Amino acid sequence: MRKKVTVVGSGNVGATTAHWIAAKELADVVLIDIIEGVPQGKGLDLLEAMPIEKRDSYVMGTNDYADTANSDIVVITAGIPRKPGMSRDDLLNTNHKIMKDVVGKTIQFSPDCILIVVSNPLDAMAQAAHKMCGFSRERVIGMAGVLDSARFRAFIADHLKVSVENVTAFVLGGHGDTMVPLPRYSTVAGIPITELMDSQTIERLVQRTRDGGAEIVKYLKTGSAYYAPSAAVAEMVEAILKDKKKILPCAAYLQGEYGITGLFVGVPVKLGAKGIEQIIEIKLTPHEQEQLNRSAGAVKELVAVIGI
Ligand SMILES: NC(=O)c1ccc[n+]([C@@H]2O[C@H](COP(=O)([O-])OP(=O)(O)OC[C@H]3O[C@@H](n4cnc5c(N)ncnc54)[C@H](O)[C@@H]3O)[C@@H](O)[C@H]2O)c1
Repeated sequence: MRKKVTVVGSGNVGATTAHWIAAKELADVVLIDIIEGVPQGKGLDLLEAMPIEKRDSYVMGTNDYADTANSDIVVITAGIPRKPGMSRDDLLNTNHKIMKDVVGKTIQFSPDCILIVVSNPLDAMAQAAHKMCGFSRERVIGMAGVLDSARFRAFIADHLKVSVENVTAFVLGGHGDTMVPLPRYSTVAGIPITELMDSQTIERLVQRTRDGGAEIVKYLKTGSAYYAPSAAVAEMVEAILKDKKKILPCAAYLQGEYGITGLFVGVPVKLGAKGIEQIIEIKLTPHEQEQLNRSAGAVKELVAVIGI
């Protein structure tokens, strides 16, 4: 039987996520939104692209959660994006309200699904969703690290003029200004980038990665990035549906790992059919641990504001 993925929110990130999933023929896709007509229109448009792409993914849009029933994965992109001058944290209260609306309806119709949270501020929204749904921590995953590390990889590949396929990169911590890119675990064909670039260049690329979302918001003016974010979601969906056991940086609920308890923070995890099948603990230097603690502290502050 075909797998089923629901994408809640059929705006820029949601519709483009549906696009990547269908184009890769990973699953049938249901797009759902509160706006009448938009998910239906975008869903139908994508369905009509499938003969050209030679893909048998069925795509539909709806405003009725009954159509989302028995989804294997539900991706939550519902919420407002930021505008120039706004931080992700400015979205906190509005998106928390939206999350309350969405999570309850989602789990009513797909009680066995895996939830991938995308709405910002990411780590706090993942924490809210986890608390609301009562799922085990394996089944609630936040998307941020795959995007942040893809941005770092793109900048490294562009600077060194090498194939993006040669570049791996690691980014830990919260999805925000305190994210922690790890140059010593970032490589080009297995060679640490610290051997290939001077520290000033690395610091410049790290800072550009931290500001990666804001750089795009500044250009777009009316919304935030969506091609790379949705491609990142599709990679996570693929790892789960194909049980790939792929190690990816994701926001996960930590219970003592990295010395952090009871908080969603970005760490390397193994993604497979059960969701987060393992949290990988890597050794950090005291400076990296301090940066990760600072990042976790920023998530903790947000979580306290919404009282979860
Ligand atoms: N985690 C990440 O790395 C990352 C990256 C990019 C964007 N985001 C976040 O993803 C979210 C979506 O961004 P976007 O660019 O697609 O925004 P968008 O405005 O294009 O789309 C959001 C959609 O959510 C819908 N929505 C609002 N309330 C809803 C509800 N209660 N139920 C169902 N749908 C509802 C809206 O109608 C809209 O269509 C934002 O919060 C943004 O900050 C996160």
